[in-house]
Amino acid sequence: MLIRVTEAQPVANPSNISSAKPLRLVVLASGFGSLLQSMLEMLDTAKVEIVAVGSDKDCPALERAQKLQIPTFKVPFDAEAKKDRTGWDLRFLEAVSAYSPDMIVSAGFMRILGESFVEAFKDRIINTHPALLPSFPGAHAVLDALDYGVKVTGTTVHVVDTGVDTGPILAQEPVVVERDDTVETLHERIKVVERRLLVDVLHSIADRGMDRDGRKAYLK
Ligand code: GAR
Repeated sequence: MLIRVTEAQPVANPSNISSAKPLRLVVLASGFGSLLQSMLEMLDTAKVEIVAVGSDKDCPALERAQKLQIPTFKVPFDAEAKKDRTGWDLRFLEAVSAYSPDMIVSAGFMRILGESFVEAFKDRIINTHPALLPSFPGAHAVLDALDYGVKVTGTTVHVVDTGVDTGPILAQEPVVVERDDTVETLHERIKVVERRLLVDVLHSIADRGMDRDGRKAYLK
C-alpha cells in the first residue's frame, strides 16, 4: 500500500509501502452488515485481508464475522460511555490497535469517531456514506435526500476527518431517485452501488495507494 500525503508531513504507514502483503483491514459496523458481507465475498484476499470486525454494540454484522471465524470485538457504547466519552474513545482505540491495521473501514458504523481515534489513524480511515456528499451528511442521509426531493443521490467513499462526513472524497457514484421510492427501496439501490464501489476503492488502494493534497483525495 502506498499512501502519499502531500502537504501533511508524515507518510502514513511507511512500513507497508510497496509491500506485497495484503492490506490489513479492520472493519467497523453497527448494523445489518451487508457492506461487510460484500467485502467478505468480493475482496481479493491476496490484496486485502479483514483482520477483525468491531462494533459499539451487538449486531448482525458481528454475527456474520463470527460465523466465518473472523475475530470480532465490541466496545459497548453504554451509559458509562455516554458519561465518559473520552474513556470510550480510548478503549475503542486500544481495541482496534490490537489488530495493527493498515486501514480502517467504517461500513455502516453509526457512531462518530473521536478526535483522538481519527488522529491516531490519520488518513487511514475511510467511510462509506449513502448520499453524494457534501449533500445529506449524518445518520439519515437517504431520508433527507428523499424529503428534499432531489432527483439524483448516490454514494460516497471518503477519508475520515474529525467532522461528520466532511473528509476528503475518494469516490462517488450517482443513483437516480424514482417517484415512488421509499427510504427502503432507495437505500437498497444505493447499497447495490455502494457495495461494489467500496470493494473497488479498497482494491485500488491496495494496488496503487491513495494521495491526499489538503482537501482533495485521489485514488492512484
Ligand atoms: C450503508 O448504506 C452505509 O453507507 C450507511 O449505513 C448502511 C449500512 O448498511 N452508513 C451511514 O449512514 C453512516 N452515516 P449495512 O448495515 O447493510 O452494511
